[in-house]
Amino acid sequence: MLVDTHCHLDFNSFDKDRDQVITRAREIGVERVLNPGINLASSTNAVNLSKKYSEVYAAVGVHPNDGLSWESDSVSRLRKLATHKKVVAIGEIGLDFYRDRTPKELQIQIFKEQLNLAAELNLPVVIHSRESLAEVLEILEEWRIKLDHSQSWLAEYPGVLHSFSGDVQLAERTRELNFFIGITGPVTFRNAEALQDLVIRLPLQELLIETDAPFLSPHPYRGKRNEPARVKLVAEKIAELHQEAYNIVTEITTANAARLFKW
Ligand code: NI
Repeated sequence: MLVDTHCHLDFNSFDKDRDQVITRAREIGVERVLNPGINLASSTNAVNLSKKYSEVYAAVGVHPNDGLSWESDSVSRLRKLATHKKVVAIGEIGLDFYRDRTPKELQIQIFKEQLNLAAELNLPVVIHSRESLAEVLEILEEWRIKLDHSQSWLAEYPGVLHSFSGDVQLAERTRELNFFIGITGPVTFRNAEALQDLVIRLPLQELLIETDAPFLSPHPYRGKRNEPARVKLVAEKIAELHQEAYNIVTEITTANAARLFKW
């Protein structure tokens, strides 16, 4: 059994062949797919896909690059969407200082409001971070203190740092927060030595495997549209790096996702 804990099946790049994409994932053993939203429309579509396909679950949230779509009623609309039983997380949320589609202050405000919503609903968070990991971790550290004070059981498994690309020190801070570390296709790239070295140091019990499809296709499909079935290539690479059996890697990472998303 395999899980793809991050895939944007709602994107229009899948409009022509979504059924076949899901069939291919099924055939390879993918039994759970998490579709995070990037804005309210996308979150609504993610929920609708979770109703249509048994293996699809949804996260709802506004991505930092879509921050300009944020409105005063966005939190209440997300809260309402999150009542659907296949919504298992708030995401993807975070900070993106690589693209400047949303002013920094607004990104930070939206991020914090959605973290508060997650705490209120006892839902874990799916975090996007690009050239912003130190700032993201500072905000998550404050959030964790609040969770601890309110004795929230969310503190045990509060979320995942999706498509992790930080160094050893930042990974250490992420682990101290009890966050899972999401590994995507770039771990298979020939020039990914730093990420591969990091993965070797991290216990399998703290990793989630993801595609981030349609993006980040693993080797040998780099640059092509990605899809959930290719999560297998990520699992195979992790098995190779850890010198562990493929089945052990999929068993452990599948159990990790079940602990986080309670699915
Ligand atoms: Ni994503």
